[in-house]
Amino acid sequence: MNSATLQPPVAVNPSTRVHTLELRDVHTYYGHIHALKGVSLHVEEGEIVTLIGSNGAGKSTTLKTISGLLSPRGGEVVLRGSRISGMPAHKVAELKVAQSPEGRRVFPRMSVLENLEMGAFVNKRVDPADLDRVFQLFPRLKERRSQKAGTMSGGEQQMLAIGRALMAHPTLLLLDEPSMGLAPILVEQIFAIIQDINKQGTTVLLVEQNALMALAIAQRGYVMQTGSILLTDDARALLQNEMVRKAYLGES
Ligand SMILES: Nc1ncnc2c1ncn2[C@@H]1O[C@H](COP(=O)(O)OP(=O)(O)OP(=O)(O)O)[C@@H](O)[C@H]1O
Ligand SMILES: [Mg+2]
Repeated sequence: MNSATLQPPVAVNPSTRVHTLELRDVHTYYGHIHALKGVSLHVEEGEIVTLIGSNGAGKSTTLKTISGLLSPRGGEVVLRGSRISGMPAHKVAELKVAQSPEGRRVFPRMSVLENLEMGAFVNKRVDPADLDRVFQLFPRLKERRSQKAGTMSGGEQQMLAIGRALMAHPTLLLLDEPSMGLAPILVEQIFAIIQDINKQGTTVLLVEQNALMALAIAQRGYVMQTGSILLTDDARALLQNEMVRKAYLGES
């Protein structure tokens, strides 16, 4: 056996509890712009955890730093006890972490089905059970499976972006504003679907502008402001928190 291929996980302070995901004092930059200024958070197996905050707070940057699209300059990202910060995105994807990006990033010239198949790329094969599950969650995608993704409505493209992430059969799903730009009825549906996905065994880190809905389905939440975590608590407590209500739930 080639021992070079057998890389033990990087041991990370064994005395502490092993979280499904943990960010420890993460600093991420875009050139000289210091976008994440020491972000620490954790997500446990089976949870829905939401990350809320205003535009530019660093929510998407946090997800990209987890999924390997960005490499932090300081701190560490730890997945089930192994450090993954600095790993390329395709390697993180192999660890069953999938990200549904902000803003309906689908492949416009490919059909719905081809887009979904691309989502399974990391597994090297399309599992029909995964496709069935996506079609069950999003019947519209089944109806439109031959349609070019770029000609789908905004809401349909949003569903496709989530469906594509699910095709990798992730154990940790990172969702970046899945409700953005959706009609109210679809917003309700999307949040119900996220709950279903979670009940079927997927841990979810949910970035949302719609703090009310996100906190309604999450167990815990983190509030971000200008690159830092301002506050964290149980979702219910955050819903009652006066500052959260004023700043993020639109109360005067
Ligand atoms: N590619 C980039 N180059 C330079 N700066 C960037 C880049 N992407 C994001 N930033 C900056 O990093 C900060 C955090 O951006 P980020 O996209 O993480 O915010 P966000 O919380 O997701 O906001 P939104 O709710 O608007 O999506 C912002 O100040 C933003 O201008
Ligand atoms: Mg964002």
